Amino acid sequence: MSRIAYVNGRYVPLGEASVHIEDRGFQFADGVYEVCEVRGGYIVDGVRHLARLRRSLHELQMQEPMDERALDVVIRETVRRNRVHDGLVYIQVTRGVARRDFLFPGDDVAPTLVVIARTVDPAKAEAPAMDGVGVVTVEETRWARVDIKTTGLLPNVLAKETARAAKAKEAWFVDRDGNVTEGASSNAWIVTADGVLVTRPADFGILRGITRTTLFDVAREEGLRIEERPFTVAEAKAAHEAFLTSATTIVMPIVRIDGKPVGDGKPGPLARKLRQHFHTVAEKKPI
Ligand code: PDD
Repeated sequence: MSRIAYVNGRYVPLGEASVHIEDRGFQFADGVYEVCEVRGGYIVDGVRHLARLRRSLHELQMQEPMDERALDVVIRETVRRNRVHDGLVYIQVTRGVARRDFLFPGDDVAPTLVVIARTVDPAKAEAPAMDGVGVVTVEETRWARVDIKTTGLLPNVLAKETARAAKAKEAWFVDRDGNVTEGASSNAWIVTADGVLVTRPADFGILRGITRTTLFDVAREEGLRIEERPFTVAEAKAAHEAFLTSATTIVMPIVRIDGKPVGDGKPGPLARKLRQHFHTVAEKKPI
């Protein structure tokens, strides 16, 4: 089946979908985005994703492309037209098209809105969670506002390649103090010997992941304690468990850090439990 993209008011075949070469997203990475999971015919945590999109736009003084109800309709229509039952939907907004100039264009320049949806085979998505994944640590090289979900992802792209070269799935950024900030496309967690979940506070140093936020709700239901504090690479390597969270991986057990096994080198029981229960707690809206 041919895929369909939404671009600035039109649904077009993916191969014909395009934006202008002077789009500020292309020239300056002057854009923001969201990725939502689609699971069993539902969009997962859509309300929180749209709230974060609004925040990202606000932080960059960017116009909203349309009101939230209309955007919700476009998102679900894109998922429907692509017949995505399980997969993801990607939403990108840029500051629009204008002659190349660092300064913001005038308010008459409309933002660009693109929505793409694609199917992901649930069995393929589940497979890595059975064995867990490896991470490698890399130097934090990103800008100081990674709390904004911008399309400026070059350090993340490079970090992922470093991970791939080391046969790992994710890279963990490490700040100057030796603390893990987050993954190249996920938030980082460890579990202490007494079963406390530890994750870095969501200040400007990490993206406040939606999966991370919902996991707070899951943990509360499970009676688990969460400590929001920085942790070092050494603490992570000695932890009972480690895992990462994102909309595309949900709760993914980590079994190796820089090639060394975490715990017994198998997915930890808490990570597995949180993964199992995640969707009973997350907000779901039918397509
Ligand atoms: N990335 N941190 C970073 C740097 C991310 O890029 C992501 C998500 C997260 C987790 O956020 P959430 O739980 O809201 O997905 C944390 C998406 C999946 C991506 O870029 O594909």
